[in-house]
Amino acid sequence: MTYLVTGGAGFIGANFVKYILKKHADCKVIILDKLTYAGNLGTIKDELSDPRVFFYKGDICNQELVENIFMNHTIDTVVNFAAESHVDRSIEDPGIFLKTNILGTQTLMDVAKARWMTGKDDKGYPLFAEGKKFLQVSTDEVYGALERDIPEGIPLKLEDKELEKVLNKRSVPPKTFGSGFFTEETPLNPRSPYATSKTAADMLARAYGETYHFPVNVTRCSNNYGPYHFPEKLIPLIIKNILEGKKLPVYGDGRQVRDWLYVEDHCKGIDLVINGGRQGEAYNIGGFNEELNINIVKQTIDIIREMVFEEKKVKPEYRNFVTVTYDECSYSLITFVQDRLGHDARYAIDPAKTVKELGFYPETPFQDGIRKTVQWYLDNQWWVNEVASGDYRKYYEEMYGNR
Ligand code: NAD
Ligand code: DAU
Repeated sequence: MTYLVTGGAGFIGANFVKYILKKHADCKVIILDKLTYAGNLGTIKDELSDPRVFFYKGDICNQELVENIFMNHTIDTVVNFAAESHVDRSIEDPGIFLKTNILGTQTLMDVAKARWMTGKDDKGYPLFAEGKKFLQVSTDEVYGALERDIPEGIPLKLEDKELEKVLNKRSVPPKTFGSGFFTEETPLNPRSPYATSKTAADMLARAYGETYHFPVNVTRCSNNYGPYHFPEKLIPLIIKNILEGKKLPVYGDGRQVRDWLYVEDHCKGIDLVINGGRQGEAYNIGGFNEELNINIVKQTIDIIREMVFEEKKVKPEYRNFVTVTYDECSYSLITFVQDRLGHDARYAIDPAKTVKELGFYPETPFQDGIRKTVQWYLDNQWWVNEVASGDYRKYYEEMYGNR
């Protein structure tokens, strides 16, 4: 199987590349990434010296480049992660979001359609070579926002017995903060420029499935977190700031709800959809981890306090980069700042279809996932300093950029 992974030097794309290389010994992975501020070869430096991996620096909107890649490699699966992904940046400057997220997806699909087409059926629909698949990585933000009508949260109860069995495997029972959930049937109703650009791409992908019978699936996942997460997003930003004793900016009253999905669980879900997703269908991928932003911040402070200190002193192995003291490492770091414009109140995914059809199970409860994530940041400060800071970008490009 040869995968074309776009955005493979970014957070989820890089985790996916690592995941499939480990899982499928005989696969080949072509990475196409523009290396914007959010992408960096340092994130995939080990993978770039794997003979199964080829890297192209470039833009998914560049049709000639995408055609060349399809000419040089027999691509079976395209996984399109490449995107401008940060909501706050889309509020400042929507243009690049529309270009990359919509036109880039169209370019990739047009080239794949032309290369994979083998003829037409008697009704004029294109026929495609066996085993081809285009997976568009979409987002739960396409659905808009849900009501937070249970402000303090209650244990999540589901009517569906199969799903209940899945949830009962958790040591800490999941909560919910509302009575509504996003299913694949929820009407699309994006509310930010980012979400709108992703919705256009999502609808275009499904339109290609309908109009051309193009072999496509769409996945809509909730907020990911885990290793290699760029520290402009909530969780990696607060981990970095806590360790440095800096203020933790919480937007508005901090009572917005997100459904947190450990990135490896997301990668497993994508792999299941690639292998078993029905033609043209969309699949929700959620974490069963609804939580208020303010509680996410508090839990992260508690965990760092527990993991980093010994007898109220920073453990010796962390002393050269942890500058927060035991007394400072508390909720007093939290600072409420101006709210995000049009801030969505609540996201909550119902992944029942993906669980039932494909056996998807988000196995990582937040309490475990956040520990693994904090430990990863503690063990990989080189990544925060060299990669996320962008300081060593040129070095990594010179070292690994020519494959
Ligand atoms: P990211 O911002 O960390 O990475 C995006 C990657 O795409 C970067 O490596 C960047 O260099 C690359 N890129 C940007 N524009 C490009 C272009 N024009 N051509 C080629 N490469 C380009 O994003 P992420 O958080 O890893 O998200 C990956 C995908 O998953 C996105 O499509 C995003 O919309 C979607 N998604 C993310 C989350 C989340 O919580 N992070 C949740 C749902 C969906
Ligand atoms: O739901 C999926 C989406 O999750 C993805 O499609 C996006 O690509 C991804 O960036 C993420 O979007 P969010 O806007 O939900 O993630 P972010 O980490 O930016 O913010 C999470 C919540 O925390 C949100 O309610 C805003 C709030 N926040 C964020 C930042 C960066 C703060 O309170 N303070 C902050 O400094």
